[in-house]
Amino acid sequence: MTPHIAAKPGDIAETVLMPGDPYRAKWAAETYLTDAVCINEVRGMLGFTGMWNGNRVTIMGSGMGMPSMSIYANELMKDYGAQTIIRIGSCGGMQDDVKVRDVVLAMTATSTGTPSSTIFREIDYAPVCDFGLLQAAYAASQKRDTPTHVGSIYSSDTFYAERNDLTEQMIRHGVLAVEMEAAELYILAARYKRRALAVMTVSDHIITGESLPSDQRERTFGDMVEIALEAAFA
Ligand code: ADE
Repeated sequence: MTPHIAAKPGDIAETVLMPGDPYRAKWAAETYLTDAVCINEVRGMLGFTGMWNGNRVTIMGSGMGMPSMSIYANELMKDYGAQTIIRIGSCGGMQDDVKVRDVVLAMTATSTGTPSSTIFREIDYAPVCDFGLLQAAYAASQKRDTPTHVGSIYSSDTFYAERNDLTEQMIRHGVLAVEMEAAELYILAARYKRRALAVMTVSDHIITGESLPSDQRERTFGDMVEIALEAAFA
């Protein structure tokens, strides 16, 4: 047990999928896993371990933002031995050709700072995903004809951005999309020598203002779960 996870040692699989929303974790476990059991309810951050295609997998919420992701990913890697963590979530499109419903696979994540910034001091560390996971996720996305973009994203500390100049520089420098968790996840994976990837669907668009109708969110979320599971066990 850790301060934020009540699971017993061994209750958590080596492969963990992490949506931001704990109720998405519940939905994904009920929809894709067999023999799923709830392994955490502390602070409502639901987590489930079950089987997918003969592979043991845990699906657990990360909460929103890098501090929350940092708490759960730290405890999962350090205390429960998670080897692979794949974030599955939504992002805001930042380029004209990145459309609502498209999938974004984040090679790297820029930020103005992460919970790890204090240890890096003057170093402007470049967080990167695991290349094998990225390759496998891209192959899985191509099999299902989902328009998929691979490149850099921006891990922001705010959903309600006030700094238009910051957004403009991200767009100008080819950043595909904005979300709020990946940079810290990648940094922790590097620190603990684990594998990490963020697989996201574009739920809204920073330039056009378009957003995904709520009745379509479940289907696009399901696509991401399938891509992440195929990538994890490729
Ligand atoms: N996740 C989904 N859309 C987002 C946005 N516009 N900003 C930050 N995180 C997001």
